[in-house]
Formats: sequence, C-alpha cells, structure tokens
Amino acid sequence: MPPITRVKGMPDLLPPQTAAWQRLHALHTETAERYGYRLAEAPVLERTELFVRGVGAGTDIVDKEMFSFQHSDDQLTLRPEGTAGILRAALGANLVQDLRPIRLHYAGAMFRAERPQANRFRQFHQVGVEAIGERSAHLDVEVIELAMEFLRELGISDTTLQINSLGDREDRARYREALIAYYAPHEAQLCADCRRRLRVNPLRLLDCKRDAPLAEGAPRLEDSLGDGSTAYFGTVLEGLDAAGIEPVRNHRLVRGLDYYSDTAFEVWHGALTGAQNALFGGGRYDGLAEELGFRPTPGIGYAMGVERLLAVAEAEGAAPSAPSACDAVVLALTPAQALAAAAAARPLRAAGLRIVVDSSDRKLGPRLAMAERLGAAAVVIVGPEEVAAGTASVRDMRTRDQSTVALTELASHLRSALTPSQEKDP
Ligand code: HAM
Repeated sequence: MPPITRVKGMPDLLPPQTAAWQRLHALHTETAERYGYRLAEAPVLERTELFVRGVGAGTDIVDKEMFSFQHSDDQLTLRPEGTAGILRAALGANLVQDLRPIRLHYAGAMFRAERPQANRFRQFHQVGVEAIGERSAHLDVEVIELAMEFLRELGISDTTLQINSLGDREDRARYREALIAYYAPHEAQLCADCRRRLRVNPLRLLDCKRDAPLAEGAPRLEDSLGDGSTAYFGTVLEGLDAAGIEPVRNHRLVRGLDYYSDTAFEVWHGALTGAQNALFGGGRYDGLAEELGFRPTPGIGYAMGVERLLAVAEAEGAAPSAPSACDAVVLALTPAQALAAAAAARPLRAAGLRIVVDSSDRKLGPRLAMAERLGAAAVVIVGPEEVAAGTASVRDMRTRDQSTVALTELASHLRSALTPSQEKDP
C-alpha cells in the first residue's frame, strides 16, 4: 500500500522552519499589542453565506476558490479570509457597544482553492488586525503604521506601500458606470474572465494582467470621488506623511474582495513576482457590517500571508536562524536507568532548562550523535554507578570534557556550563 500523501497546495510545516514561524507570530502579537490590539479567534468553518455576502458574489474567491460543503442542513465553507468572521464575531458579541473602536489581532489558517504555485497555496496562514467601530482617517494611518512597523521589526525592507481610495458607495457606482462605458466598445477583444467581470464586477477589470494595456487608458477612480471621499483620503495621506511612511498612489488598486470602501492598500515586495507580489493587503470596509445583517459599523484592517512573509525574510537574509531543540540531553545508559534519568530531568526543567530524555537502548555513539544534532550543549549520562552514587556524568559537547556532578548540583552546574546564548534566563 503506498503511503498517504498530503493534499495538493496544502504544505506541511515542520521543524526547523517552525522556529521562524513562531518568532513571526510572537513578533506580530507584540507589535499589535503595543498599539492596544487584543487577540481574537474565529472558527475556521463558517456559513457559506458569510463570504458570499461579505467577500461578494462575482469575486474570484467566492466564484471559484471556496472549499464548501453541505453538512446536515448547513452550507459551510472553510474560511478563505479572516475579516468577515472576525467582524461577525465582534458584532455578534456586541463588543463594539463598550469599546469604539474595538482593536483585535488574529492569526490562522485560510483556505482558497487557487492553482498552487510559488507563494500561492490552498491552505495558507495570515496574521492580521481589525479595528472595528470608528470611521477615522487617523485609524487608517494607525493600522498602516502598525503593519509597516511589524515589517521593519521582522527585518523586511524592500517593500512599496501601494494605496488608493475606493470612495463611498455612490463614488463607486459612478465609477462603475464610467468603466462600463469605457470597456463596452472593446468587449470583443477582452479575455473571457474580463467579459464576465464587465457584467458582474467591472472594478476587477483593472486587475487583469492580459488586458493591462486597455486598463492603462481606463478612467481613474480618483476622478469619480466626491468631495467627502477626497478630503478623507487627503487626511490619510497627510497622516502617513507625518508618520514617515511614503506610499505609492496606485490608481488601479481595487483589491480582490468586494467589501472595501475608501482607503485600500497593499504592500508589494521585489522578491514576490507575478500575481503573487502582495505581501499583504487591507483597507476600510464601512459597508460590510450591514451586508452581513448587522447595524452599520465601520472598520479597517489588514492581513498578511505568513508564508510570503517568511519567503521574503529569507530572500532578504532576515530569516532568524533556528535555535537548538534543547539545552541538554539526559541519557539513561541502559533502560534500567530510565526512571532515574526521568527523575534527574525534572528539576532541570523546573529550573527553566530545555531537556530531552533519551532512554532508548541504542549504542552510546549514535545517541551522542543525536544529542549533537539536537544542538544540546551538554549530555547528562545516568548509568548504574551514577545512580548508586547520586551523581551524573556531564559531558560538555563542545570541549568533550566529562565531569562527575552531584544530582543536587546538576541544575546550577548546567546553567553555568551553558553559553549565554543557550541560557533561557541569563
Ligand atoms: P487578501 O489580499 O485576500 O486580503 O489576502 C491578504 C494576504 O494573504 C495576501 O496579501 C497574501 O499575502 C496572503 N494570501 C492570499 N491568498 C494566498 C494564497 N493563496 N497563498 C498564500 N498567501 C495568500 C484579505 O484576506 C483581507 N481579509 C485583508 C483585510 C483585513 N482587509 C481588511 N482587513
């Protein structure tokens, strides 16, 4: 029987890569919490309707990319993104009654049935924030500033912040008409996708790579913005300038989800190419709450692809090196010392050391080689003589020196023997 393989487009995540992964998540949490954002978790499985109404029928995500199925009477979908679920959760729990805005950060797996390729997966992960309950250009600036600060702390620099304003509902309706009027005479020469977009989602015409030359001459969204939207966007740009952030105004940035209004942004990176150049995206979604059946509640947020962040950090040489798996291995010389080895490990772990216990019955040589591969700075050998004497033999893996240490002294001996970089608590 052939071994079972993983599902296409759904990568595994294993050590040592998990170390960079953990650091990224910790750093995102730290950065977001410095701005007063708190952790939120919404389920991976939601009602299909949440995304059909939220992300929008006519978008690629809803039309082609959702993993959906029927269970009993429920039509369910593996979440393709996090915003709709977080908003549903926050408004459903009335969080916005007490705190306006409520500031939330989140992390988790998302699912899109896209064609897998470099940096594009069917299961991928996002870290993101949502600030729900306030319409303020200053909040837009805060969210972007937080995102850029996180990238900087991660060590990623070769980025451009692309920004646009999608205006309000009336502005977009006006713009939609202008786009249809521009594209309709060219309908015959459009690709099949764009002919469909012309009917269901004209804004997405601007995104098409094949029909890009036509998009060059298309009317600009900016020219359809009303005075209120223009002034709002002006305040956002001013705030970004004051924060030392220089965005590129991109008139064709419309984003792939329907819920956006006013400020929309993406960060692109040189190491990501083609359709996968966005490191993250976000924007304001003041109409989304109503679309989901809640009372109108403005919001803004971003989400970043974790796999893309790690790929880019590696390309820039900013990926952190993997730490060792443990500080020391406690080794039972024969299986008869297994209980004694486990007992010796307990106070060491209680002292904050990372300890692997090896009670296997293999030869000493391969076991020392494994301790080396785990990155252990010391191996603590517990044999019959050591048990009788209440001691252990401690082998320094760098110098190969071996010394006899009383079990009662073991924790402090290991602490001082370890190099500062391997100490948990210097
Ligand atoms: P999005 O642009 O669809 O926005 O996705 C955000 C990020 O997730 C992308 O920039 C990319 O880094 C990553 N991503 C998306 N699809 C894939 C994929 N197939 N494989 C790997 N990475 C991927 C959203 O999801 C919105 N919810 C963002 C947002 C939050 N807007 C407001 N708040």
